[in-house]
Amino acid sequence: MLSEWPGWLGRGLNIGGVFDRRDDGAARWTECDQELRLIGGAGFTHVRVPVRWWGHAEQHWPYALEEAFAEEVDLVLDSARIHGLGVVLSMHHADGVMAGEAGAGSRLCGLWKQVARRYRSAGVTVAYDLLNEPRGDLTIDRWNQLLPMVLSAVRKVDPDRVVLVGGADMSTLPGLLGLKVPDDNHLVATLHYYEPFRFTHQGAWWEQGSGEWVGTRWGSGGHQRQLGEDLGSAASWAERQGLPLYVGEFGTYGAAPPVSRVTWTRRVRAEAERLGLAWACWDFSTDFGVYDPRGHYWRRNLLEALIPRLESVD
Ligand code: BGC
Repeated sequence: MLSEWPGWLGRGLNIGGVFDRRDDGAARWTECDQELRLIGGAGFTHVRVPVRWWGHAEQHWPYALEEAFAEEVDLVLDSARIHGLGVVLSMHHADGVMAGEAGAGSRLCGLWKQVARRYRSAGVTVAYDLLNEPRGDLTIDRWNQLLPMVLSAVRKVDPDRVVLVGGADMSTLPGLLGLKVPDDNHLVATLHYYEPFRFTHQGAWWEQGSGEWVGTRWGSGGHQRQLGEDLGSAASWAERQGLPLYVGEFGTYGAAPPVSRVTWTRRVRAEAERLGLAWACWDFSTDFGVYDPRGHYWRRNLLEALIPRLESVD
């Protein structure tokens, strides 16, 4: 069992909106090298890269990955290494598994087998996040049944790679508490934290009714207590399992009131660190972003909530 997460995991940013897009347009991250340099320079230690392999592979066995797409992901790994950043590769939007499609579990295993083969020699600063936010058909029980098979697809190829496992229920706290951890020596547990949801997702275009939540603030004593209790129970669960814990996603949609956004981000980050958890904020430059991709600047207050100023390198 890993007694603590690898040092490179520490502080991270999710790279949303690039390889996880559902429109299946050719993924292009032409600024990848420049942006990873910025991220490393700002003091982050890794990036979590959500990849929708699901939409870039053949439907039938052996579910061959689309080579051109995979080569784009290769570039990110190469560039991250140059800029001193570790990489968490997440299996994002595997929609068929969540919809309970026939054969979806076997396809998921087939995809992981290829990804594991592809990056077997990638060095130790690459980890795999087996399935982003299991939900829908993947109830806690079904996910607990499928998880060992998915892990074993990776393990047949790469026995020692650090692998992240989250719970059902979108990797929230209740899902984590229901997770049956497979017997394996290189696992890190992962939690996604977006509470209170009506605060973090206010105005998010894909959340029906979220327009009515706009204006919700965060920062009362009750809010802070809740945060402490939530992260505290996740950390105690992980300790009981003998696993290190990683908060693989937390963040706020851009419509949230700016002061509350910064306060929440700082508190979640600081509380995670106080409890000895690694983390990755959602995200770099989408509508949750810490960085403005049009103006090419960091949203300074959000960045400093994550990487306190005195520690920032640039
Ligand atoms: C999803 C994103 C979403 C984010 C915040 C991620 O897991 O993949 O599409 O924006 O969570 O809800």
